[in-house]
Amino acid sequence: MEEKKPSTADILAKIRAQKAAAEAKPGEAPAAVPETTPPAEPAATVETPAAKEAPSVAKPAAAAGPKPTSTKDILAAIRAGGAKPGAAPATAAPDALVAATPPAAAAAAAPKVAAAAGPKLSTQEMLQKIREAKGAGSAAPAATAATVKPTTPVAAPPMPAKPTPAGKSGKPTATQRGMAGLSVVATLCAVFLVLGFLTGSSLLIGAGILVWGLLLSPFAAAWAAVTGVGGILTLGTARFMFPNVLVEPPSKFKVGPLSDYPLNTVSNKWKDQFGIWIVHTDQYEGRNLIFALASVCTHLGCTPNWLDGEQKFKCPCHGSGFYMTGINFEGPAPRPLERMGLRVAEDGMLEVNKSVKFQEEMGQWADSTSFVEVV
Ligand code: FES
Repeated sequence: MEEKKPSTADILAKIRAQKAAAEAKPGEAPAAVPETTPPAEPAATVETPAAKEAPSVAKPAAAAGPKPTSTKDILAAIRAGGAKPGAAPATAAPDALVAATPPAAAAAAAPKVAAAAGPKLSTQEMLQKIREAKGAGSAAPAATAATVKPTTPVAAPPMPAKPTPAGKSGKPTATQRGMAGLSVVATLCAVFLVLGFLTGSSLLIGAGILVWGLLLSPFAAAWAAVTGVGGILTLGTARFMFPNVLVEPPSKFKVGPLSDYPLNTVSNKWKDQFGIWIVHTDQYEGRNLIFALASVCTHLGCTPNWLDGEQKFKCPCHGSGFYMTGINFEGPAPRPLERMGLRVAEDGMLEVNKSVKFQEEMGQWADSTSFVEVV
């Protein structure tokens, strides 16, 4: 049979009755209880063994009913209990506890409960009591969580391992190896191309293009070859903007004192450097002269050789021969060798001037600037 849920008024009346029973004599307590308590009340007020079972009966009732009363009623009951220090809290569990406890024990426990409730409850304490009255199982952890602050900090989740940057582990990555290889190839290709352009070697240029093309895709290799050919043509065109520079020896130079050239000798000392012979002879018109002969054959421009044993100049090209004086006497050479300007400088040195030439057939050997006469 379903029991009727006690109202707040009944609970308050019960609490007052229990308080009165605690203050009165032990023999008078049972008489006041049956008047106001519900049908379950006699079991809590009869004998001690029955009272021991009261909590087990009352607790399921409190746990089964999450909302035995409204929040407003519970607050009113708490305030009522706080106004009377001796009264027990108006909840189901304290009710059963008070009913099951002997009057002396209830009187001793009442101040503790009253002290917990207090005449001036804070809002937080009141909310906690409401939660304790409403929820038997689930409200208590919530109240605890709301009122009790955790003392131990929550352990932070472990941080993920920081990724090691590429290249700092000591081992190069595949990308780094590829870039290094490409750099080497590009450097090698550039070296080949530069050396090819500097030396004009088409072999080196072709090798540079080939090295580049072998390590690329066929499409890139084809474009590299086209680009290389275009670059070569462009450089070849630009080369014509810079004409060749022919470095020639100065036209005037000194060849030493007269004493360096004995009579009737031909000096080859300046042939390779300046293309002249210094001749000291007295065989031309009987005069002791020193003059400079150009080492150019008057036939087709070859370079004759002085043959000291034969005392003549001999051209290796067509066999023309010239005397020590420079007069042609054999071969196809049509005229004598040419003289260069010669004079004694201020310092006593012989100075040759290749900017002027003297031809015997034109009577220019008679010019005093074409020889130095030794007296
Ligand atoms: Fe000297 Fe012909 S060039 S003989």
